[in-house]
Amino acid sequence: MRIKLSNRLQAVARQIPAGRRVADIGTDHGYLPVFLAVNDISPQIIASDRGKGPLSQAEQLVGLLSLENQISCRLGDGLSVLSPGEAEVICIAGMGGMAITEIIAEGMAQARAALRLVLQPQRNVAAVRRFLADNGFRIVAEDLAEDDGFYYEIIAAEPGEMQLSDLEAEFGPLLLSCGHPLFKDFLSLRERDLTRLLEAMADNFSPDSMARKDQLEEEISRVAKVIAGIDEKTAKGSEK
Ligand SMILES: C[S@@+](CC[C@H](N)C(=O)[O-])C[C@H]1O[C@@H](n2cnc3c(N)ncnc32)[C@H](O)[C@@H]1O
Repeated sequence: MRIKLSNRLQAVARQIPAGRRVADIGTDHGYLPVFLAVNDISPQIIASDRGKGPLSQAEQLVGLLSLENQISCRLGDGLSVLSPGEAEVICIAGMGGMAITEIIAEGMAQARAALRLVLQPQRNVAAVRRFLADNGFRIVAEDLAEDDGFYYEIIAAEPGEMQLSDLEAEFGPLLLSCGHPLFKDFLSLRERDLTRLLEAMADNFSPDSMARKDQLEEEISRVAKVIAGIDEKTAKGSEK
């Protein structure tokens, strides 16, 4: 059976090295574990969720495809469903960045025992990068995916040391340097969204709003600078 994943989950799957035992924490529908099993990317997968409803959806799909020998479904919170070393690759996708950092912090023994974490935070991505740097992980790969006009950042991290500047935490140390084909579009959309937010606050002069407007202006200017850097590189490249 062919399983068609969203671009977002395909990008998550691309960061999973073949032949490793994988855990998908917060699996919901179970699409990622099933994709990994059907495509022989992983020999043994744990699909876990803290919600009974989501987990039963995953169980149904696994049962329908007779993948019970390859995918074990576990109900439970975060990494508590794993013993240290049981999963070589831990994926946590489609949740907020704060939820992801909490899950890792509460299951640090399991996270440190894994060879790789594959993370796809929906928001607060900078906080995830800072958390990784502060907790003995280094980012080894970053990717972007686009689905229906929304962009998603994917981070692969492994145990190790990493120094991060504020700029690198905000935009991604590797995204800033790797020339990703979606990076400029992703930043342009962010710039547009922030500008709209700022415009919507134009008539609001409360102290809190004024402080928020300053923050937004600074953020827009940082995004614009990174876009200008990309344009400069592109112009230099086309001169050669
Ligand atoms: C939006 S879905 C994402 C599903 C899938 N990972 C994806 O990326 O498409 C988030 C899932 O994470 C689960 N979840 C949230 N916090 C969790 C936690 N601490 N431990 C386990 N599952 C959690 C929710 O029950 C929900 O099914």
